[in-house]
Amino acid sequence: MDYEEFRTRGKEMVDYVVDYLQSIEERPVYPSVEPGYLRHLIPESAPEQPHSFEEVMKDVERVVMPGITHWHSPHFHAYFPTGNSVPGMLGDMLSNAISCIGFSWAASPACTELETVMLDWLGKMLNLPHQFLAGTNGEGGGVLQSTASEATLVGLLAARRKKVLHIQADTPDLEERMIMTKLVAYMSDQSHSSVERAGLIGGITMRKLPSDSQLSLRGETLKQAIEEDKAAGLIPFFLCATLGTTASCAFDSILELGPICNSEKVWMHIDAAYAGSAFICPEFRPLLNGFKTSPNMMVKKRSDLIGAFKVDPLYLKHEHQDSGTFSDQCFYCLYFHWGIPLGRRFRSLKMWFVFRMFGIKGLQEHIRKQVNLAHEFEGLLLQDKRFEIASDVVLGLVCFRLKGSNDLNEMLIKRINAGRKIHMVPCNLQDKFVLRFAVCAATTESKHIHYAWQIIKELATELLDEGYQ
Ligand SMILES: Cc1ncc(COP(=O)(O)O)c(C=O)c1O
Repeated sequence: MDYEEFRTRGKEMVDYVVDYLQSIEERPVYPSVEPGYLRHLIPESAPEQPHSFEEVMKDVERVVMPGITHWHSPHFHAYFPTGNSVPGMLGDMLSNAISCIGFSWAASPACTELETVMLDWLGKMLNLPHQFLAGTNGEGGGVLQSTASEATLVGLLAARRKKVLHIQADTPDLEERMIMTKLVAYMSDQSHSSVERAGLIGGITMRKLPSDSQLSLRGETLKQAIEEDKAAGLIPFFLCATLGTTASCAFDSILELGPICNSEKVWMHIDAAYAGSAFICPEFRPLLNGFKTSPNMMVKKRSDLIGAFKVDPLYLKHEHQDSGTFSDQCFYCLYFHWGIPLGRRFRSLKMWFVFRMFGIKGLQEHIRKQVNLAHEFEGLLLQDKRFEIASDVVLGLVCFRLKGSNDLNEMLIKRINAGRKIHMVPCNLQDKFVLRFAVCAATTESKHIHYAWQIIKELATELLDEGYQ
């Protein structure tokens, strides 16, 4: 396909995308295929001869679409929202066209410089303390990691390296592997599973601490665990706190945890994968109590992160990296020092399009709308005495259950999802089986909330009439 044909096909693809998104509501939100459905729909091997665009597009509807869970359907209420705004898609298109691998300044100056500035913009939108900004001479700064899981892992590995170097500065004879066996990290019983995995991948003992009745990790709990571990000869070095847990959007008490981490020289990582973006609205900032959101990873002292993973092969060096202009702010000269992959996409271009074309006001409006819709759903639930709210509704997530057994609630969500009209996932909160209703798609409106409520209510009636308790 030459560029002139691409011009035509590209426009057709935009038409397809617009038609898909405009009619998404008409598709069942959750697919009805069985595992393994796809393999027999396509050949065993790649074709020898090229296929036409029309042929491929025909198979998108035949092969791909039947197996899609439509995350941007207004009837999708599972997990958490994911972005697909029009400005974001436009930015991604351009980023795909440029397709640079921006690991260092020389590999694409605009790619690394825009990322640094976009992370500063974000930091300012969130009203983070200035220590988290790079500016032209700050010590902090941000980087786009691929996912929140990766941000946590990178934080853990950097903290591990920092602690090892710190201990070896005092006792140079102590071998790294000996120190590693004594390191201990902390998470709460509400942390995302990716935190536990970061411990497994990093070969670190990760201690799961109990949250309180509000599902929040408290300072006293951490303090006690650190004291116990130190008394047992262990070395506490890392805490992952969460602002907006996956199960119920609960908030750890970082105002209590922060000072303990500071005094114990424990690296505090905050996972705000979902709730972080809400902090661009001043009314939600009290929940932030401090700072950061991921996978946009912001650090107070970037040298702790960059210094942890430095390897400098000749083929990645460039003429500017040691120059006077860059030596103070060389963090974007060599972005690959910030994380695991070398190659990185030009993702800040997407942020630039989104920030500019929505403006802070537009982004705030979007978040407020999602939160208001969650409260609308909460209001409907509260009017029906058969249901109970399982945790405070703070942002766009409502956790609720039918008063009764876990089996009853398990049956309810099974029937909801079997109907494929709306889609939700459950969670466990303090041994109770709970249904999560998340406001996800940007196109979700009040009528969709009422539609979902109607379905849930009718299925609840059906179950109770059948004698489930
Ligand atoms: C609080 C929290 N942390 C981490 C993750 C993992 O996100 P990712 O897929 O970006 O690794 C999630 C996913 O929902 C999350 O809710």
